[in-house]
Amino acid sequence: MAPAVSTSIRAATDADSAAVIEIVRTCWSAYPGVVVDIDGEMPELKRWALHHRSLGGRAWVAELEGRVVACIAATRDERPGAWTLHKLNVLPEARRRGIGAALVGEAESAACEQDAVCMVLWSDTRFVESHALYESLGYARMPETRRLNDLSKTTEYRYRKAL
Ligand SMILES: CC(C)(COP(=O)(O)OP(=O)(O)OC[C@H]1O[C@@H](n2cnc3c(N)ncnc32)[C@H](O)[C@@H]1OP(=O)(O)O)[C@@H](O)C(=O)NCCC(=O)NCCS
Repeated sequence: MAPAVSTSIRAATDADSAAVIEIVRTCWSAYPGVVVDIDGEMPELKRWALHHRSLGGRAWVAELEGRVVACIAATRDERPGAWTLHKLNVLPEARRRGIGAALVGEAESAACEQDAVCMVLWSDTRFVESHALYESLGYARMPETRRLNDLSKTTEYRYRKAL
């Protein structure tokens, strides 16, 4: 693993929205069949920080040598004590430096400072690298899956970790 020397994580602002959109577009476009329609299906990315704050959650970005290269957000789940991770994405050139794991850790810590006793998430079945990441961090894949009626014809796995 390359050393994570010049990486940093900070709370996102809406000024990061353009970078976050580019990150999601780049990451998701690598998967056959995955369609990225920001206006139609992910308008919240245009207000990356404010959208999650308005839900009582938080959003972060990671920088590598001063450039925004990754993002994550977390909000309360509908189940008491559970928080949900959203949109963890790391640009290909910034991967395997510990940035994804560090972002998950940041979100877990922030959720614990609130009322979280567990973290949950949904992950596209095609995003196999993320499954390896979550499992390396102690997340367990639940038996349930869900299908989204979206352009990408997404089926997602459910992951959960006790905090
Ligand atoms: C999944 C993703 C966020 C991982 O980001 P990352 O910064 O490269 O992850 P890290 O460097 O923190 O990896 C931590 C550990 O996760 C596991 N891991 C991460 N990527 C992996 C891969 N491609 N293959 C196998 N294991 C992997 C490893 O155990 C790794 O530790 P190691 O590098 O010491 O072996 C990144 O690949 C990505 O953005 N993928 C596309 C979008 C996506 O799937 N998002 C998730 C949506 S739910």
